[in-house]
Amino acid sequence: MDNMKLEIKMCMGSSCFARGNGSLLSIIEKFGNDNNIEIDIVGSLCENKCEHGPNIYINGKTYNAVTDANVLEILNQHIKK
Ligand code: FES
Repeated sequence: MDNMKLEIKMCMGSSCFARGNGSLLSIIEKFGNDNNIEIDIVGSLCENKCEHGPNIYINGKTYNAVTDANVLEILNQHIKK
């Protein structure tokens, strides 16, 4: 696999954090290690989309209601391209 890199922004506002973005972080980091993918993770402040959260942004694309259960599927979509 060539140098794959994902840029991920996670909302770290209190609502998204409480809904699960806190635990997503370690899952995303493990995914990067397991698949040898460089992942840049930055946190963002609340973007006033709390009701759709937890919100993350991968290479500029927005994902809402991201959970431990669906985050790997979302990440895999990005590395298959
Ligand atoms: S806390 Fe994430 S959009 Fe508000």
